[in-house]
Amino acid sequence: MRESPDRQGLSNRPRGQALDKSALSEMRQRVVGLDVKAPVLDGSRRPYVNFDNAATTPAFWDVIETLDLFLSWYASIHRGAGFKSQITTQAYDDAREIIGHFFGADLTSQVVIFGKNSTEAINIAARRIPLASDDVVLLSLMEHHSNDLPWRPQATVVHVEVTPNGQLDQDDLRRKFAQYGRRVKLLAITGASNVSGYVNPIHELAELSHSHGVPILVDAAQLAPHRAIEMRPADDPGHIDYLVASGHKMYAPFGSGVLIGPRAVFAEGAPHFSGGGTVEIVTEDDVHWAAPPERDEAGTPNVVGAVAMAAACRALQEIGMDRLAAHEIELTRHALTGLCQIEGVELYGDDDPEQAGERLGVIPFNIKGLSHYLVAAVLNTEYAIGVRNGCFCAHPYVLRLLDIPDPVAWSWRKQVIGGVRAHLPGLVRISFGCYNTLEEVDWLIHALRRIARGEIAGDYEQDQAMGTFQERTFRPELDQYFKL
Ligand SMILES: Cc1ncc(COP(=O)(O)O)c(C=O)c1O
Repeated sequence: MRESPDRQGLSNRPRGQALDKSALSEMRQRVVGLDVKAPVLDGSRRPYVNFDNAATTPAFWDVIETLDLFLSWYASIHRGAGFKSQITTQAYDDAREIIGHFFGADLTSQVVIFGKNSTEAINIAARRIPLASDDVVLLSLMEHHSNDLPWRPQATVVHVEVTPNGQLDQDDLRRKFAQYGRRVKLLAITGASNVSGYVNPIHELAELSHSHGVPILVDAAQLAPHRAIEMRPADDPGHIDYLVASGHKMYAPFGSGVLIGPRAVFAEGAPHFSGGGTVEIVTEDDVHWAAPPERDEAGTPNVVGAVAMAAACRALQEIGMDRLAAHEIELTRHALTGLCQIEGVELYGDDDPEQAGERLGVIPFNIKGLSHYLVAAVLNTEYAIGVRNGCFCAHPYVLRLLDIPDPVAWSWRKQVIGGVRAHLPGLVRISFGCYNTLEEVDWLIHALRRIARGEIAGDYEQDQAMGTFQERTFRPELDQYFKL
């Protein structure tokens, strides 16, 4: 049985040293596309600053180099008789093992199932974990829609409250366990919020859940690229039963994600997607399903994506998750300190720079009196800073953070259904990757200071249906940058 490195402490807080300049530069050399410049309104080109890593990350060169070598040997997997098929099959099996170990899974009792992303992985889990409509699945109000909607048709979803500043309300979680008793069959919770960057104490939550005899699923889509995760052995009360993650958020954007869970659960019942690869034997009127993981991997799998994700896990391990986390905490502390000092900037969630170690570098904010759509457009058009704005596939949570009362929310919902998004409330979000720099954060702070003072150079118009703003004269030729 694997030894958990942190069996005493429940905290998954990182302990690494921040990176010095040469270590950061080494890390940046691992990342594809950091040298590109983007057009800005004054006619020049500026180094592009990507602060949208919570949505997706750029690729690691380690991944590209591995794929470059692998693709010469790529062929059909499973039952292909040729030499290349043997190599491809071995690479696919190795990828499963590398990723399983990266997350500290026990591969004798747990299985790694490949899918295309966390959303698909949760959909498979929701269809495959035995649930009846009266069973309760506890979710938090901070969940991404991908860890909420898939459960709704399968069971009774009960949302656990968040506190006014957006943290999980653990008292409410305890109340809900007590209130629903034996009806509770699963706690499905995010490892970290993609909106506020809060990191949930997954092992404490697992202990609580297990004390009620209930397994826990952790949506690690957001947590995995930022913190070391150990699923821990099954005899540890804080172990994680199910975990999902996406390769494209871990520097491997090649269409692969994983669902890790108990082998015994996936050895029962029919798969959610069936077809080639999922069976042992088929007759005209009968089928004998394959053992896990094949049972839940219908059709030809994305071997390239799996190999890419494994290569990214290796690279993250080489960098050291604690070192990476320490660097991101420094960026977050620096950003919060700067943002707090800009008049007109409203931060949501915990805005204390000293608490930066308790959260991810995902920071939501607004500028008083300015639409979030406009702020995001100005950052891109005038400063070459890429951010995301809106509700980030977490509508209920964003409405809580914005403290929007129900009747108001209803009127906005009606507008959106009627095809007008222009007045939709939302936030601007910056999110860091391991390669971002303090200088990039300073550039953002400079930009926001000017925007908050009303120093906007362009003349922007809003698309009422989409909500987005476009500068009237700024029409960069995308084809000059990339064209298929
Ligand atoms: C917390 C969380 N869960 C799930 C998802 C869905 O991930 P994917 O789009 O890779 O399926 C996201 C995506 O942003 C996320 O942030």
